[in-house]
Amino acid sequence: MARPEETGSERAGAERTGADRDASGQSGAGRSRAVVIMAAGLGTRMRSATIKVLHPVAGRPMIHYPVQSALELGAERVVVVLGHQRDRVEAALRAAFPEAPIEVAVQAEQLGTAHAVLCARPALADFDGDVFILSGDVPTLPTATIQALDTVTGEAAVGVLGMRLDDPGTYGRLVSEGGRLARITEFRDADDRVRAIREVNAGVYRADARFLFETLGHLDSDNAQGEYYLTDIVAAAAEQGRGTAALILDGEAAADAEGVNDRLDLAAAERRMQTRLRTHLMQTGVTLLDPARTTLHAGVEVGPDTVIEPDVALLGHTVVGPGCHIEQGCRIADSHIGHGAHIKGQSHIEAARIGDGCQVGPFARLRTGTVLHEKVKVGNFVETKKTVLEAGAKASHLSYLGDAHVGAGANIGAGTITCNYDGVNKFRTTIGAGAFIGSDTQLVAPVSVGDGAFVGAGSTITQDVPPDALALSRGRQANVDGWAKRRRARLAEEAADRRKD
Ligand code: UD1
Ligand code: CA
Repeated sequence: MARPEETGSERAGAERTGADRDASGQSGAGRSRAVVIMAAGLGTRMRSATIKVLHPVAGRPMIHYPVQSALELGAERVVVVLGHQRDRVEAALRAAFPEAPIEVAVQAEQLGTAHAVLCARPALADFDGDVFILSGDVPTLPTATIQALDTVTGEAAVGVLGMRLDDPGTYGRLVSEGGRLARITEFRDADDRVRAIREVNAGVYRADARFLFETLGHLDSDNAQGEYYLTDIVAAAAEQGRGTAALILDGEAAADAEGVNDRLDLAAAERRMQTRLRTHLMQTGVTLLDPARTTLHAGVEVGPDTVIEPDVALLGHTVVGPGCHIEQGCRIADSHIGHGAHIKGQSHIEAARIGDGCQVGPFARLRTGTVLHEKVKVGNFVETKKTVLEAGAKASHLSYLGDAHVGAGANIGAGTITCNYDGVNKFRTTIGAGAFIGSDTQLVAPVSVGDGAFVGAGSTITQDVPPDALALSRGRQANVDGWAKRRRARLAEEAADRRKD
């Protein structure tokens, strides 16, 4: 796991932990926190029309995660540096964090990471304290790791998060001298000796605000890429004797600090995040029969003793209560499920509320605005939309219920259809408590069936049915005695005549 390197030149503050800080972003030592998130680049290697930081991981745009971390760190200021597609990114952030103190700094042209942070300077002009610098494309970095970096950095002017990798690739190399982090050398600027270093820069930093902005203002772009390198603040701090520190991660913790550059990295990040979310559910008492076949979005909650079969996806803002059973192949999005519900196989549920003890499916489709009160039963091949079924109501087979209100204990027969749409407008159907709707009934809305009323099977109901009445609208049945027998005889005779010819 995380292991501090003894590279900090000033470790006096090493015992200070993030826990000393209160929610206002003040540390125990009285230092404020700000976070700068770099997210201006397009992310060319994604080969996408959409900017990299808007690609989702566990259902949320990647940029969501560093912003969440910033808030968990108690930052009083969060500055997101945006360039490409900045309106889209800003809109996504405002929607996800409507209350958060997020400021947008614009970096119209991407001149390098140092330039990106400089673009945040006006927003932090009067800020004095610690600036955490995060990247918008490192979605799996746990906030606790950033807290650990804070602790390790202590009184140093700059602290860097590092990873020890078997294959250090093209990451910037952490170069130490005399046991202290002396500088970061970018891969393209490094000689073979430096390229052999396996400790690399994860691109996450904590820096003293004044030191940071003073130093950034003086950096040049005299390097292989002709860019302004944020990493140059490390050499500046070392040269000025201001103290540098590094927290080097190993193994899985290092993998969690790796960023996303292409679709393969995106898949790897998704896998790590899924593992984390599944592990959390199992640790809190949820059974996943085959964890690798459960898909979860960040923020999904599931109560203890719920059993989830393989190939279930719980998406968006979904909350599942305790003691539920969710069978194979269900997809549940943005929905709330009470306790003890049984969702049978292959059901699709979206933006619905399902009460305690309900039974749904198999093959049910509950669409937006469906509300099932307790102990409702919705069976196979039933579709509902903007429909309320009150306690104990049943629609067991083959129905469409749209824009409808079904009273407690009502029974909806197989093949019942609410005809809620006339091609232009939608209309409501109201079915009273304890009503019985016979099979293969069409309810042409707007229409209501009173409490305790009975609709005969095969009816097309176009007028309101009073409470406790019987409604029948099918043609009257006529039986013709012996007709079928006479027909068979006639057909047999005709066939015999044809054979003679
Ligand atoms: C950077 C580090 C490297 C480190 C690696 C970790 C520098 C010079 N190098 O390299 O040491 O190992 O991250 O992933 O910092 N960005 C902007 N504006 C810019 C340039 C970048 O907002 O002008 C953003 C990008 O959108 C991205 C982040 O900063 O979110 C990192 O930029 P990137 O170009 O990926 O940096 P690397 O070259 O990978
Ligand atoms: Ca990168």
